Formats: sequence, structure tokens, C-alpha cells
Amino acid sequence: MPPTAPHPEPSGTLPGIPVVDITATGPGRTPIQQVMELMRTHGPVLVRRLHGRDAMFVADADLVADLADEERFAKHIGPALENVREFAADGLFTAYNDEPNWAKAHDILMPAFALGSMRTYHPAMLRVARRLIDSWDRAALDGRPVDVPEDMTRMTLDTIGLAGFDYDFGSFERDEPHPFVRSMVRCLEWSMARPARTPGEDHSAADASFRADAGYLAQVVDDVIAARTGTDQSGAEDLLGLMLSAPHPAEGTTLDAANIRNQVITFLIAGHETTSGAMSFALYYLAKHPAVLRLVQREADALWGDTPDPEPTYDDIGRLTYTRQVLNEALRLWPTAAAFSRHAREDTLLGGRIPLRAGQAVTVLAPMLHRRPVWGDNPELFDPERFTPEAEAARPVHAFKPFGTGERACIGRQFALHEATMLLALLVHRYRLHDHTGYRLTVKETLTLKPEGFTLTLTPRTPDD
Ligand code: HEM
Repeated sequence: MPPTAPHPEPSGTLPGIPVVDITATGPGRTPIQQVMELMRTHGPVLVRRLHGRDAMFVADADLVADLADEERFAKHIGPALENVREFAADGLFTAYNDEPNWAKAHDILMPAFALGSMRTYHPAMLRVARRLIDSWDRAALDGRPVDVPEDMTRMTLDTIGLAGFDYDFGSFERDEPHPFVRSMVRCLEWSMARPARTPGEDHSAADASFRADAGYLAQVVDDVIAARTGTDQSGAEDLLGLMLSAPHPAEGTTLDAANIRNQVITFLIAGHETTSGAMSFALYYLAKHPAVLRLVQREADALWGDTPDPEPTYDDIGRLTYTRQVLNEALRLWPTAAAFSRHAREDTLLGGRIPLRAGQAVTVLAPMLHRRPVWGDNPELFDPERFTPEAEAARPVHAFKPFGTGERACIGRQFALHEATMLLALLVHRYRLHDHTGYRLTVKETLTLKPEGFTLTLTPRTPDD
């Protein structure tokens, strides 16, 4: 058993904390939304019981602030991430805190994610943004709808491929998503569903198809690495260059071959899946809120005027502050990596009142944290004004946690925000968005969240739009 495993026995009832047994129904295909509903009924702290196993979920801002205390709590690899370890092992996302390769890879790869490094990735991000625009121009011309989450996934996969690994997935040249995406989604679904299995059932077919998918992902990773090995990496500043050749700043050794494979798979997945969902939700809210869309368009127009094909500079992206507010607001309502877990380093009292034993885990449910009273009377309302600098300064820092917390927080946050802010501004600068189906939001869960079946039709904007 890994050193960070939860206590195997049920936590038992704790005074004032509801225990909700979902064994009769199971978590279904939307476990995050199920816990959201449970919290709407039972409040922001609860224990979910499934087949006698307990998991504590919290969304209370004070408790989340306490869980952010790195002295007393650390990242927890819960059952779903244990399953992701079957194909990503000790890659950064799924490594145990005390696995030596976590700190080693973190130190080696951090420079690739400093804000300044985004300058290096900017040209690749723009190149892929243009692929998306070419594809959407063709759809607009033919009056064809575009599948928003599918195209955002094409865009983010090609971006992490090119920017991180100089590897071209060529997703816009395919009618169907790249097979990497299909296999990855199935592997994530398997990881999410496996902890909810009823004991005694036969899942050998699902496990065999998982192994086939994981094998295919490994094959893609090998292709990505083979395209570069043997070439001189000394000047390569991208992720793969650092993985293959950068020595650790203190101890001087490089990452080993097995760990490089785990990092490549980790970054190919973590580097595109969540950003794609965030872009899709942002476009969904813009399509539903014409006044907000107008403001984003105004911000892009102020930078790029009527130029049909603007050439955004790296510095332009920092000026798109309202666009960034829109993204934050979309991530507030639907943080696409919706839950993260922490465990107590020693026996402690969470928030001064909930006894936890060393190793015991608590999962933060970000979508409900992001709907707490601190967000005002109408937290379901999409309103980017919540992210003006003044509003942000007035709010407790731990009220907004779409990127996790502490030293295990998202390493790719700046990457995601740069990529998504630029693309969102380019798209609204160029197109009118038409909600041609009167889309009603359905959120699909595959460990991450995405709006399912969301399509738009587009027309080019004219100078008077
Ligand atoms: C970790 C969210 C984009 C790479 C995390 C965590 C969250 C998160 C919540 C912490 C998980 C935990 O505590 O268990 C997001 C969201 C994104 C995004 C919402 C987009 C909107 C990216 C991108 C990359 C990336 C673009 C890479 C280019 C990673 C990695 C980790 C991580 C490697 C693990 C870090 C560590 O433990 O050392 N992300 N992420 N993410 N993310 Fe992201």
C-alpha cells in the first residue's frame, strides 16, 4: 500500500457531519455532479459512503484554507488517481509526494513554466490558433456547425504537442479526433469508474480494453520521444528538451528513461484536456451572454482594430484583462479539474473541529467552493465582474481553487491561461457566435468536465458588428 493511502476503515460518524450512503445507486456517470447535488441538500461538508468505503468532501472556504496549510496537509493520491497511475505512474501529476522523482522532475521542469517561458511557446500557440481559425472559416462559409469541445481538444492537443514536444498531432487534418484522444478519454473513464465497482462483479473485458488503450498511449509516447532522441538537445528549451537532457540543478543527474515516458504521457494529457474544457465552457457562456461577449469583442478590437488577421504579440495577451476575467468566471462555475484531495500529515483537527488521523484524506469539491456565500447572493449567475482586481482583493485567497493548491498545484497554469486567453480573444474578434440549437448545458465527466454536444454556428464579423 502506498505511504499516502487513506485509512481503510470507514471514518465513522463525526458529530455534525452527514454521512450519505450512495451504494444503492452508485455514483453513476457524473460523480462530481452527484456530490454537488448532495452538498446542495446536506451542506458543504459531508461523508459519501459507497460499499462501506467513506470519502469526505468539503467545499467550505475556511476548511479549504486550512487544507492549504502545507505544514499540516499534503496532496493525496486518491482511488481515481491511483488508477491513473496505472498509465502515468510517477509522472508529476500522479507521483506520491515522497517519491524522489516528483521533486526531481518538478525542479527540472519548473523553468519551462515560469511566466517568461510563455514567450517561447507563444509562436506555437498562435500557429495552432490559426489552424482552428482556418477550420472555423471553412465551417462558417459552408454554414456548418462546429463541435466546440472537439475543436478545442484538437487545438489544445496540437498546442501541447508542438509547444512542449515539437510533435505535430495534425488534429485539424482529421475528420475524427486523433486516436490518442479516444484512448485517453477511455483510460480516464476507466480510472474514474473503477473505484465504484460493486465487489464481486466481473470487469475483465473493461480491464482488457483499458490495457489495450494504455498500450496505445505508450506507443504514441514512444513516437514522440523517438522523433527527438539521438538529436542534439543542448539548445532545446521545450519540455521534451528539458526532460531528455537537463540535469537537476542540485544533484546533477537527468531524468531516467522510464520517468521521461511517464512525464510525456502526463503532460500530453494534463496539458490539453482541462484547457480544452475551460475554453469550451467560456465559449458556452459567451454564446449565452451577448453583453459580455460584446465587452470581450471590444477589448480585442481595441488591440487589433478591424484587421482580419491580427498578429497578437506575447505582450498583447497580458492586456486582455477582461477576456481573462471571462475565463476565470467560466473556471469558477465549472473548474474542469473539479476535485483535488489532501491528507493530514499528522493527527489534526481540520478547521479546529473535524478530527482527522494521519493519512486520512479529504477531497475539495471546487465547483461548490466556487458557489459559496462569499461569491454573493447569486453564485449560479455568470458574471466576470467577480474577477475585477478590486473584487479579487476583497475575497479570501482560498475561495477560488481551479488549479489546486500548494507545491502540487498546477504547473501549467500560465501555459493554459496564455493559450486560452489568446484563442478566446482571436475567436470573438473574428466571429459572431450563434447558439443555433438553443443549447442546454449538459456536463460530461471523464475525470475532467466538458460541455457535452455543444455546437455553434459562426458568421464572420463585419466592421460594424
Ligand atoms: C496539476 C488544473 C492546465 C499540467 C493540476 C491540479 C489542478 C489542475 C487542479 C492539481 C491536482 C491535484 O492536486 O491533485 C488545471 C486546469 C487547467 C490545467 C483547470 C486548465 C485550465 C494544465 C496544463 C498543463 C498542466 C496546460 C501542462 C502544460 C499539470 C501538472 C500537474 C497539474 C503536470 C501536476 C503538478 C504536480 O503535482 O507537481 N492541474 N490544469 N495543467 N497540472 Fe494542471
